[in-house]
Amino acid sequence: MSKIVRFSVSVENELLDRFDEFCQREHFATRSEAVRQLIRNQLTERAWENDASEVAGTLTLVYDHHRPQLRDRLTEVQHEHTDLVVSTLHAHLTHDLCLEVIVLRGPAGRLQQIAAQLKGLKGIYKGELVMASGQMREK
Ligand code: NI
Repeated sequence: MSKIVRFSVSVENELLDRFDEFCQREHFATRSEAVRQLIRNQLTERAWENDASEVAGTLTLVYDHHRPQLRDRLTEVQHEHTDLVVSTLHAHLTHDLCLEVIVLRGPAGRLQQIAAQLKGLKGIYKGELVMASGQMREK
């Protein structure tokens, strides 16, 4: 458990207004809460620079349900990486669209590789990898 430290920051009025709007929109209880999360996000991103760091993550994909062979290819790639793929959630969004959330765990570099491979398949409309490490605790 680390102790909480206060520090002051100087910013332009305008920037602070925008930050307050952001806090409100994102439902942060306090500015401190928002700043903590932003710092943490930024620092965790840095941690990915070390590809060997053990992380967990989710890859969210939205794709064309009717695209030939896409479904098979998605399954194949996941079967080729059973050491990284923890679980998959599938939702049929519309008549034409599927949403898939893949839970991953392993070295950051390999998670980025498999994410890039899956996102790059033809018929994928949107792909986003979110990673988290064990270093994110606050207390
Ligand atoms: Ni579907």
